[in-house]
Amino acid sequence: MSIKFYNLAEQYEDQRYEIMQAIDEVAKGGQYFADSSVKRFENLISHLYDGASCAGTVSGTAALTIALQVANLPKHSHVLIPAMTYVATANAVVAAGLIPVCVDINHHWLMDYDKLSIYLDKLKTVSAVVVVDLYGQGVDLIRYKKLCDHHKVKLIVDAAQSFEIKYDSYHQIDYCDSLAISFNPLKNLGAMGNAGAVVSKNYTVEQLKAWTHQGKIKNDIVNPGNNLRIDALQAAILTIKYDRFDDNMQRKSTISWHYRMAFEGKILMPERIMYALPTNYVFVVAPKNPEILKTFLSLYNVEFASHYEKPVHHYTAYKTDIDYCPFASSLAGRIISIPNHWHLTDDQVAQITEIIKNSV
Ligand SMILES: Cc1ncc(COP(=O)(O)O)c(C=O)c1O
Repeated sequence: MSIKFYNLAEQYEDQRYEIMQAIDEVAKGGQYFADSSVKRFENLISHLYDGASCAGTVSGTAALTIALQVANLPKHSHVLIPAMTYVATANAVVAAGLIPVCVDINHHWLMDYDKLSIYLDKLKTVSAVVVVDLYGQGVDLIRYKKLCDHHKVKLIVDAAQSFEIKYDSYHQIDYCDSLAISFNPLKNLGAMGNAGAVVSKNYTVEQLKAWTHQGKIKNDIVNPGNNLRIDALQAAILTIKYDRFDDNMQRKSTISWHYRMAFEGKILMPERIMYALPTNYVFVVAPKNPEILKTFLSLYNVEFASHYEKPVHHYTAYKTDIDYCPFASSLAGRIISIPNHWHLTDDQVAQITEIIKNSV
């Protein structure tokens, strides 16, 4: 029997009845474009983000694109992004008519503050910075916001992997222009299809929603828009699935902590941040010889993934002549994501731990 990387079928089994009921309710209502499930879901997210404005979107990529569009940045200006992220971060910047520039990451594998500071000093065409909460850890936003304010550029959070990250002494939403969340099926709170949300205290719900719905506010079209609204069925499913969220995250956190303690000092991992409770979206290791670990995992039927195979500036679409991000580049081909979902048994976690310890 293999140990699976994802637990999507199990998630459905856990709440099969409630999910079917939620789908049935939307289907019977016949209001697929304006179902109350969307309002309910957006109210839930708004509540979780301290009453901020929220618009449900068709995906996390759409949410990030809207976060950039609503900020009204100068066309073709530069947006700084971390070199190690899912490529959607860069793609969203381009979709918003802007140009992404990669900044190297630090030992937490998050955008490096000192390097960011140098870029902001030297590059006068930057209009925004997008930090990414990679694997569910986030930068110390107060510091980054101060730097961005000093340079008069917007700070946007790609929170695709960090839904409900909890900072010790402040709320994430208070130190950014807006943030973009993904609820795709693989996320800690995952829909049964694509979904996302853009959240902000700086724009009204109407302003955010205009970008999801053809630029429409009341009977006018106030900006060029698109059709990027969240699907009513996905909104209903996400609201139901949120009932189990805290318990699921508790289990995921226990598993991730167990791995961290077992591998500390033995294998390279992103260093843990101390000022916030991470979401443990995925658990990654970067062994010196990844092929040995991959062989061991395959031999014992343990599924694995990679977040990510390459930094953004190694892809053809975003290649640069000079490599400005040596640390991110040094991780290319080395990152292995191991199962850390909440349906793993203690025995499976112990087995994975042993395999990894024995392979390094
Ligand atoms: C860091 C990051 N940004 C953006 C996205 C895009 O989200 P979606 O797949 O919902 O479009 C993802 C999704 O995996 C992500 O991990």
